[in-house]
Amino acid sequence: MRKRLIAGNWKMHGSVSQVKSLITGIQQGAQSYSTIDILVLPTFVHLSLVHDLLQSTAIKLGAQDLYPGAQGAFTGAVSGPMLIDIGCQYVLIGHSERRTIFHENLDLVAAKFKAAISAQLFPILCVGETNDERKQGETEAIIEEQLESVIRLVGIHAFQHAIIAYEPVWAIGTGLTATPEQAQAVHAFIRKLIANNQVDIAKTIRILYGGSVKADNARALFAMPDIDGGLIGGASLDANQFLNICEASCTK
Ligand code: PGA
Repeated sequence: MRKRLIAGNWKMHGSVSQVKSLITGIQQGAQSYSTIDILVLPTFVHLSLVHDLLQSTAIKLGAQDLYPGAQGAFTGAVSGPMLIDIGCQYVLIGHSERRTIFHENLDLVAAKFKAAISAQLFPILCVGETNDERKQGETEAIIEEQLESVIRLVGIHAFQHAIIAYEPVWAIGTGLTATPEQAQAVHAFIRKLIANNQVDIAKTIRILYGGSVKADNARALFAMPDIDGGLIGGASLDANQFLNICEASCTK
């Protein structure tokens, strides 16, 4: 049985006081959901604060990005060992906003995944197609390319310590969600790709769905056999909404 994971990707949001009240709110409800993993992904500047606020809770901490390499002349960048040092366990890799806005190509995404594994962080590899790609029938080819480019660099065994997030680009922040059936079809395809490389990893790897997940659509998505939780953007900035999504993911 794969343990469900609900991850809140806060993106570039939050002041110190907003972060404090969001964590207080999440923390108050989170104890009721001990059957799932709950993870928050604040900005770099809020990581230390959130780490301190999460002491003596089961809520996990991750970053939204890293730069390959341990240290060096990379102005503005943050490395995997630095994230470990301040108490992170997880890191998003290849979010579509990084791929699009920051022009991260397949090679850089793969290098970041490798850096996360080397630092002993759990990478959450984000994959997903654009609206045009879906219309052209290219969804599976795009996902395969995004996944295989990482597997080629790090090998399949690195995925023992990784999570995959399927996030159709057309569903992120748009209010359009993939139907549970659409999402399930892609999740099953991803699991099959992993199984082609290593059957046991395919059985245990968690594959999250992301893209306009809200409390009212979460339950139907999480009922799908290959959906193991969610990567939540907008709705993770409101403690009640986020907790309602956690509630929806709890197996009864
Ligand atoms: P959204 O974002 O829930 O606001 O669509 C999801 C994500 O980008 O991870």
